[in-house]
Amino acid sequence: MASGSRAHFSSRLGFILAAAGSAVGLGNIWGFPTQAASNGGAVFLFVYLIMVFALAYPLLVAELTIGRYGNANPIKSLRAVWPQQRGIATLMGIAGMIAVSMILSFYAIVAGWLFGFLVGPVLDAIGMTQAAEWLESFSASRNLVLMIGFMLLTILVVRNGVANGIERWSTRLMPLLLVLFVVMVGYILTQPGAMDGLKMFLVPDPSHFSPKLVVSAMGQAFFSLSLGVCSMMVYGSYIQKDVNLPKTAAQVALLDTAVAFIAGLLILPAMFVAQHNGVEIYSESGALLSSDTLVFSVLPAMFETMGGAGLFIGVLFFVLMVIAALTSSISMLEVPVSCATEELKQDRKVAVWWIGGLITLFSALIVFNFGELFGLVISLTTEYAQPILGMMFALLVGWVWKRDKVLQEIREGYPELEQGLFWKIWPWYVRVVCPILMLMVFFA
Ligand code: PFF
Repeated sequence: MASGSRAHFSSRLGFILAAAGSAVGLGNIWGFPTQAASNGGAVFLFVYLIMVFALAYPLLVAELTIGRYGNANPIKSLRAVWPQQRGIATLMGIAGMIAVSMILSFYAIVAGWLFGFLVGPVLDAIGMTQAAEWLESFSASRNLVLMIGFMLLTILVVRNGVANGIERWSTRLMPLLLVLFVVMVGYILTQPGAMDGLKMFLVPDPSHFSPKLVVSAMGQAFFSLSLGVCSMMVYGSYIQKDVNLPKTAAQVALLDTAVAFIAGLLILPAMFVAQHNGVEIYSESGALLSSDTLVFSVLPAMFETMGGAGLFIGVLFFVLMVIAALTSSISMLEVPVSCATEELKQDRKVAVWWIGGLITLFSALIVFNFGELFGLVISLTTEYAQPILGMMFALLVGWVWKRDKVLQEIREGYPELEQGLFWKIWPWYVRVVCPILMLMVFFA
């Protein structure tokens, strides 16, 4: 395809970090541990690992490859892969764009809570207890204000464009976040009660297995790797041709899964420590209480047990989490924005504001109808839209796209591709196994 004058990530590492930045976010630290805690712990972990490597990784390669081949926004990239059916390709792109906007609308609410728990304890420490209380307790007004703050931040970064906006944010703070996580895991495991959580996370109890758990694990894997909604396709379109896509995708998947795993090692023990210290986590019937906000009651409770250092570590943690959430949210907003700038020839600044504004309005709708909409939108997007669209991309790559073109595109950054194992397995795997696996999960 024509390479045009589009911006590209300036280095291979820049891309890995940007794609990892999209992948690592609330899905790892809020979504995964919450799901694991509500679905029996270790059983969920194991099914999740299978989903990531058997289903999500091959599709990540597929999405990145479509994007890099198209070297354009998702609508155009999909049309380049399926020129005979431009209408259907366009519809797929639009579906991805709508789904990713809906994801951003709930994501911004949860990311807003991070601000609350970042600033709250500081205000509390300087005596502004009422403001702190407002920031840390659930209310529509707080959710609205903090969500708008997070959306503004996302809009401002995306306005600056890929290379200097997205890449710069993604390249720095990931290592720091990992180190902090390890320190926190080390601390929590010394606390009374922690071993119960560790056991729940690592020792499987097969009685927890259910078909519903498999669907949840699949949705979580798609959500965590940003699949099925064109985010990775757009990022693929910004990668240079000499990047080895299968290898890079594997690095991103491994990093993302490692962060989710470490977050589980932190949150599940922290839950039981908090329970030991009097915070209510499970109801009498054994169901998780207020699972959406679980992480936000467990972590502050942990920081409180750390004495003076807790304030500092808590602030650092929430700052890093805001940034991790931001590197994900910008990869979402970039999808509709890239379509508007290239398909509608709009100025990036204009596109960012009206699209960001619409998403903020939709998010406000969720804020004011939280009980009805929040869970519904999450389940519609992550358990249905992401896997179904992901399956369509797999079918596209497996059945529609000419095999020699796929080969040529991946070979650009991986000259010895045909000799390796990847090329022996992946094409028919994406063609046959991925769609069958997904259908099985759905019909189970
Ligand atoms: N992968 C992100 C996370 O785990 O927080 C969420 C996400 C980003 C989902 C981008 C979808 C997306 F397109």
